[in-house]
Amino acid sequence: MYEPVVTVRAENSDDIGVVRRVNELAFGSPNEAALVDALRIAADPYISLVAIERAQIIGHIFFSPVSIETPDNIKAMGLAPMAVLPAHQNRGVGSLLVREGLRECERIGCYFVVVVGHPEYYPRFGFVPANQKGLRCEYEVPPEAFMVAELKAGALTGRQGLVKYRPEFALV
Ligand SMILES: CC(C)(COP(=O)(O)OP(=O)(O)OC[C@H]1O[C@@H](n2cnc3c(N)ncnc32)[C@H](O)[C@@H]1OP(=O)(O)O)[C@@H](O)C(=O)NCCC(=O)NCCS
Repeated sequence: MYEPVVTVRAENSDDIGVVRRVNELAFGSPNEAALVDALRIAADPYISLVAIERAQIIGHIFFSPVSIETPDNIKAMGLAPMAVLPAHQNRGVGSLLVREGLRECERIGCYFVVVVGHPEYYPRFGFVPANQKGLRCEYEVPPEAFMVAELKAGALTGRQGLVKYRPEFALV
């Protein structure tokens, strides 16, 4: 039987309207879609990838810079938001987006990626509780929900403290 193939590529300007819709439908709210629109303007660099099946966008993932209180100004990103159309969830599309996204973060020289999310989901991609690495989140979230994946060996050795997202996150 013919199995549709899902591919991941960088978002382009023609995708913006569909990406907005994918976020609205996945979250059932306009907030995350508006956050992505705001981050595209404000964040530098950012990573925005789409998952395609049968020439349709069915999923989206976004990464924007986070800062950490260290004397050296290393590059680090926050994964958020991520969305897969409800009819396509639980088929591994989200996993594909996370893996490709982490690869892209690594390619641009990112030291680590943080995420606030489900503690059962993200460890499969290499995320561990961020408090184990001495990182704190600026937002009040359950400690197990704030996780980090190191993309370079020893990325967090000697680097600890409060992690801050882009100010646009405060709007969500
Ligand atoms: C989260 C999301 C992107 C995952 O995409 P997906 O394509 O369904 O993910 P995958 O198929 O790769 O993985 C499915 C796994 O995620 C888990 N999962 C999905 N949503 C979850 C949730 N809200 N809570 C806990 N686990 C969840 C599933 O239980 C499943 O786990 P399993 O592999 O152990 O069975 C998708 O469910 C979605 O768009 N949700 C609404 C928006 C959202 O909550 N985004 C994440 C916060 S930014």
